[in-house]
Amino acid sequence: MKDTALRIGGFKDSIFGVISGLAREHSAVNLGQGFPDFDGPEWLKDVAYKKMQEGHNQYAPFAGTIHLREEVSNYYNKFYQLNYKADSQVTVTVGATEAIYVAVMALINPGDEVIIFEPFYDSYLTSITMAGGIPVPVTLHAPDFTIDRQELAKAVSSKTKMLIINNPHNPTGKVWSREELLEIAAVAQKHDLYVLSDEPYEFLLFDGAKHIPLATLDGMFERTITISSAAKTFGMTGWKIGWLCANKKVTNACRLVHQFLTFAVATPLQEAVAEGLARLPEYLPGFVKQYQGKRNLFYQELKNLGFNFPIPRGTFFMMVPISQKTQMKDVDYAMKLIKEFKVATVPPSAFYLKSTEGEKYLRFCFAKKDETLKQAALNLKGL
Ligand SMILES: Cc1ncc(COP(=O)(O)O)c(C=O)c1O
Repeated sequence: MKDTALRIGGFKDSIFGVISGLAREHSAVNLGQGFPDFDGPEWLKDVAYKKMQEGHNQYAPFAGTIHLREEVSNYYNKFYQLNYKADSQVTVTVGATEAIYVAVMALINPGDEVIIFEPFYDSYLTSITMAGGIPVPVTLHAPDFTIDRQELAKAVSSKTKMLIINNPHNPTGKVWSREELLEIAAVAQKHDLYVLSDEPYEFLLFDGAKHIPLATLDGMFERTITISSAAKTFGMTGWKIGWLCANKKVTNACRLVHQFLTFAVATPLQEAVAEGLARLPEYLPGFVKQYQGKRNLFYQELKNLGFNFPIPRGTFFMMVPISQKTQMKDVDYAMKLIKEFKVATVPPSAFYLKSTEGEKYLRFCFAKKDETLKQAALNLKGL
C-alpha cells in the first residue's frame, strides 16, 4: 500500500490522549486532560433539548445560526465594547480548535513564519504545519512566564506573517497584563502581522483579574483574529461550539476554509449556546466562584504537599514546578505519578519546541469535583 501524506509525518498522538489512556490503564485520578469531571449547567442542557424538540435539527447556515452570531456579537459589545458585526465578522466553528485551523489555513502560505509562545497549545503547531508554515517559538520564561522583549524582536523576520497568543494562558494560568499585550501589539503593528488571539478561557479569571481582548487595543481590531469557545465557559467541552471574529476580508477567507471543512456546526447546540451567552451576566458570578474555590482548594493541597509556586490567576490549570521534589524530568515523573501514586498529569515538555524549561514542571487540571481533587491530593501524600 502507498504511504500516507508527508505533511502528517511528524505528527504524534496528542499527549492528552496518551495520558488519558494511561490514566485508565492504571486507574489513576485524571488531572491531565482539560475538561471537567462534572456536567455543565442543567438549565443549558434543558435549552438544548428544547431546541431539538422545537425542530432546530437541520443544517445551520454555514457561518453559524443568526441567533448565535448575534449573541456572540452582543457579548463582545457588552463585556469589552468590541464591535464585531454578526453578519460579516463572526463565524461559528467546531470549537476553538477548528477556528484555529481555519484561520491558519486561510492566512498562511507555505514558507510563512508564525510566532508561537511556548509552552503552547498543541494544535497551533499542527495547524501551522498543515498549512506549510514554519512555527517560530518564543519562550515564556518561568516563574512568571514572561516574554523576553529581545527574544521576541529576534524571532521576527521578513517571512513572519502571524503571531499566535493565548490569553488567559494554557498551561500556565497566566493572565497577560495590558503592558505585555501592548508589547505584542507594537510588534504586530511594526511588522504588519496578523495576530491570532485564542481566548477560550476569557471568563475563567480569579482574584478580580480582568480579560483584555487583544482586539480592543489601539490599532489591533483590523489585524486580530479573536477566537473563543463555549467549552470552558459552560463546562461542556463535548459540545464543541466555538467562534472566530475578524475583519470582513479575513472572515471571508476563513469562511471559505470552514465551508469545505465542516460546512455547518450542530444546530441545536448553537441555539442553546446563544441562550447561554445571553445569560452570561447572571451565570458568570457563580461559575467563577465555583472555579476559584477549586483553584484555592487544590493550590492549598499542593502547598501542603510541599509544592511552592505563584498562584495562577486564570484558566483551570496549574504549572507546578517539580524540581523541589525530584531530579526526574517531567515525562518520567508524570509516569511515576500515574503508576505509583495513581494521579495523571500532563508533562508540559510536549508544549515546547525550543526550551527545556517544561521538563521542570507538570500541568495539573483542577476542573474536577472537589472530591476528585482531594482524592488526588491524598494519593500524592507519600511524595
Ligand atoms: C488554549 C486552547 N485553545 C483552544 C482549545 C480548544 O477548544 P475547543 O474545545 O473549543 O476546541 C483549548 C482546549 O483545551 C485550549 O486550551
